[in-house]
Amino acid sequence: MKKVLIATDKPFAPVAVRGIREIVEAEGYKLDLLEKYTSPQELLAAVTDADAMIIRSDKATREVIEAAKKLKVIVRAGAGYDNIDLEACTARDVVAMNTPGQNANAVAELALGLMVYMARGFYNGKSGSELKGKKIGVHAYGNVGQNVGRIARGFGMEVYAFDPYMTDEQIRAAGATPLHSVGELYTTCQYISLHIPATAETKRSINYDLLRQMPAGAVLVNTARKEVIDEEGLARLMDERQDFGYITDIAPDSEAFKKFEGRFYATPKKMGAQTEEANVNAGLAAARQIVNFFKTGDKKFKVN
Ligand code: 3PG
Repeated sequence: MKKVLIATDKPFAPVAVRGIREIVEAEGYKLDLLEKYTSPQELLAAVTDADAMIIRSDKATREVIEAAKKLKVIVRAGAGYDNIDLEACTARDVVAMNTPGQNANAVAELALGLMVYMARGFYNGKSGSELKGKKIGVHAYGNVGQNVGRIARGFGMEVYAFDPYMTDEQIRAAGATPLHSVGELYTTCQYISLHIPATAETKRSINYDLLRQMPAGAVLVNTARKEVIDEEGLARLMDERQDFGYITDIAPDSEAFKKFEGRFYATPKKMGAQTEEANVNAGLAAARQIVNFFKTGDKKFKVN
């Protein structure tokens, strides 16, 4: 009997776990659940007899992949797969997949929610500002970025996007005005919403020189990854510019941001994708991808 392991430090909503269980058990597979584990050892112990795994931001290191002796497929229920050692997967002939788009609306709603929170002085009751009429630059116009664009248009914002993997026509068709360099995006827009993955190329790429070009009242919104930020450069800029705000769903490593009271906010735990809907969409997609992989060899969302 095949065993599917859900290993989620940050658990799915119960309704999503029930849905995954139904899909898995309908095929005669067994479902194991490891939630809120406190040490990597617990994960290492749980993976030993798993044929398939569903994870979120959980770290699928080389050690984990090598401990999972029977593993054939690992699905990251979400978009970013920088938490999976893809080389280790390939070396062991393990197929790694993601579930693109399934949690995109949830992340986008949080990005706009954070922007309102900041614009209204973190709900302090004092006179704040509105998003209507402001320019937002969406940095990477994929699934999350396009949802941000859609919601921002609802607020009456002017939506601009930079995405080197899309044509102007594609960006326009998805409701934004295309710009042709990061520099142009950051000089044009008061609000920047980040939706780039964390790769060797993007890590620390959101730096002092780029951010200093942003107009007065600049707000950087990060619901992507903390690794893409050059934290030192950003903190230096915020020291120099009292008008610069940073709101993020991924708390920075540096303690330096704590002093920027009133223009810095980080959620207590990364929660962009943490809605019942997103958990159901991504979790059930992951379960179906595993079933299809075992039944038909389907590798549509393979990332390694
Ligand atoms: C993603 O890459 O899909 C998001 O960052 C969500 O991550 P999470 O599943 O850990 O909430």
